[in-house]
Amino acid sequence: MIIAVDGPAASGKGTLARRLAQHFNLGHLDTGKLYRATALRALASGGDPADPAVAEAAAKAVRAADLGDPRLADEAVARGASVVAAIPSVRQALFAFQRDFARHPPGGAAGAVLDGRDIGTVICPDADAKLFITAGIEARAARRVKELRDSGKAAIYEAVLQDMKDRDARDSQRRAAPMVPADDAFVLDTTTLDADAAFAAALDFIGRKLAAAPAKG
Ligand code: DC
Repeated sequence: MIIAVDGPAASGKGTLARRLAQHFNLGHLDTGKLYRATALRALASGGDPADPAVAEAAAKAVRAADLGDPRLADEAVARGASVVAAIPSVRQALFAFQRDFARHPPGGAAGAVLDGRDIGTVICPDADAKLFITAGIEARAARRVKELRDSGKAAIYEAVLQDMKDRDARDSQRRAAPMVPADDAFVLDTTTLDADAAFAAALDFIGRKLAAAPAKG
C-alpha cells in the first residue's frame, strides 16, 4: 500500500505522514530531506546550490545516512532545498531513491507513506491514496515560529512569513514537478484543525478509498 502525502511547508503533512505510517505499519519517507541533504552537500562543498552542476553532483552523492543529519533542519538548508528542487537534473537524480523506497520499504513493510510536494503527481502516481495537506499561510508561519522557538531558536514572525511566501512561490511556480494537488487527491485544509482532527479526516478518506478500490492481485 502506498500513501502519498503532499503539501506546503508547515501544513501538518509530516506529522500526519508519520502517524499514518505508524497506524498502518508502513515505512515512512520524508522526501523533503532528500532535497535538504542535496542543499547541505552543495553548501558544505562551498558551491552555490543554484548552480545546476553543483546541485546535480550533490544530489547524486546523497545517501540514506544523510537523512539523519540534524543540520537538515537549518533554515539556510531549507532555503537551499527549495532552490535545488527547481533544477530538473536534481529531481531526476533523486527519483530512483524515492521509487525504491516505495517499492521496497525498509524492514519488509507492506508499503510506505511518502510525504513531499510531487508524490501523488510524479513519484507515485499510482498511490492507493493521495492526500494534499494545506493551510493558510499565516497559520503555517505561526506554526513554524512556534516550532523554532520550542526548539530554542529565535524567530521573527514577519521574517518566517516572508520566507514561507518565497518558498511557496518557488515550489509551486517552478516548471519541474511543481507543487499541485493530484487530480485524485483528497485536499485537506488544516488551518483550523489540530493534529488529531487532521489524522481522523485522513483515516476516514483512506478507509473510503480502500473500500472502493478493486482487490489487488
Ligand atoms: O518539506 P521540506 O520543507 O523539507 O522540503 C524542502 C524543499 O524541498 C521544499 O522547498 C520543496 C522541496 N521538495 C520538493 O520539491 N519535492 C518533494 N517531494 C519534497 C520537497
